[in-house]
Amino acid sequence: SSLHAIRGTFLDFINDPFYASDADSVRYISDGLLVVENGAIADFGTYDDLHNRYANLPTETYFNKLITPGFIDTHIHYPQYEMVAAYGEQLLEWLNKYTFPTEGKFHDYAYAQKIAALFLDELLKNGTTTALVFATVHPQSVDAFFEVASRLNLRMICGKVLMNRYAPDFLTDTPQRAYEESKKLIQKWHNNGRLLYAVTPRFAITSTDEQLRLAGQLLQEFPDVYLHTHLSENLQEVEWVAELFPNSKSYLDVYDRAGLVGKTSVFAHGVQLTDEEFQRLSHAKAAISFCPTSNLFLGSGLFKLHTAKSATMPIKVGLGTDIGAGTSFSMLQTMSEAYKVVQLQNQSLSAFKALFLATLGGAIALSLDDKLGNFDPGKEADFVVLDPQATPLMAVRNQGFPAKSREELSDQVFGTLMLGDDRAIHAVYVAGTLAHQK
Ligand code: GUN
Ligand code: FE
Repeated sequence: SSLHAIRGTFLDFINDPFYASDADSVRYISDGLLVVENGAIADFGTYDDLHNRYANLPTETYFNKLITPGFIDTHIHYPQYEMVAAYGEQLLEWLNKYTFPTEGKFHDYAYAQKIAALFLDELLKNGTTTALVFATVHPQSVDAFFEVASRLNLRMICGKVLMNRYAPDFLTDTPQRAYEESKKLIQKWHNNGRLLYAVTPRFAITSTDEQLRLAGQLLQEFPDVYLHTHLSENLQEVEWVAELFPNSKSYLDVYDRAGLVGKTSVFAHGVQLTDEEFQRLSHAKAAISFCPTSNLFLGSGLFKLHTAKSATMPIKVGLGTDIGAGTSFSMLQTMSEAYKVVQLQNQSLSAFKALFLATLGGAIALSLDDKLGNFDPGKEADFVVLDPQATPLMAVRNQGFPAKSREELSDQVFGTLMLGDDRAIHAVYVAGTLAHQK
């Protein structure tokens, strides 16, 4: 069969380091063996413990590398691939000036396929093996994305944007059309191989009450489908939402009244949330995607990670690049910017906590921790081979690699997050198969 093994230095999480000690959450195996069968992890442990049992398996060995679970990007827009780094505006002007004209191109299926292929190639090159992805209002933009993702055998979540006002005519649908098109796409793609569907209203401004209500109806009809949208990113946006929905007590309440706040809901940003809204998200077991490079680039503000991960109202949090408002496809760079956003609030984010958000934390945020996020047997074999010494600078910074202790490891991982990008991604495995190599 397809039984094979990877030998090397492994790091993953078996608990949330925001709530458990490093000793109880970080699993570090300096000489380990990962056994893969039919795209899933069949066994995992130290080389000493396992090598007799698997003596004759074809084995790939990585020296002086660090193997982690594949990175999970919990919020990104594939159609915005070509408009990364658009100058000079904050959210609402940025949408009108750059985003909407770009998204207009995705009525063209061939164009959408071309960009989807470039986009997924860039994700893989950066070690990202799963993402929650915005398409555009055009159903064919979702078809194009899923066709390419399915060829690459990636676990991906995507959905058609619902948007019926405050956008150009060429980008708007109607509540009924959005409902019907989404339903067809769910039936075609949800649980088709490794693909999953997300009902995707853009944000409260661009959907009427009726459209949000129909989105809620889709979630009732298909309870394991995701809800993916933007929430409370920018102050002007929050003020406009309050004017548009005078009967709602908060931005989150607009979504709540439509039945959009639940266990499979993922809200991007949440920069301007009140404590009451944080409380409600915690109670509903909904997730936030923290998008540091985007929040800095658009000048949106500093996400209160310490509030979201507080002991009293824990919220599921993942990291998102939010390309094209975010400026890097690299989850290493995204972890680095997350650290800086937290520093600006006089808090700290350890290397382990950052890496947790990009792996098991992301899997939990996407309710995929039964399938992804660490090296537990039974999970899907998506993983990244990092090179902590990828550049001359990193080789000197991390000269002691591989670490002898967890403290030393923490320092080397921190150096890798701060200095690393796609150059530090040595190899990427998808369902146990080599999918990218530097
Ligand atoms: N809010 C509504 N649409 C968007 C988008 O495309 N990007 C970001 N960052 N925020 C949004
Ligand atoms: Fe976004």
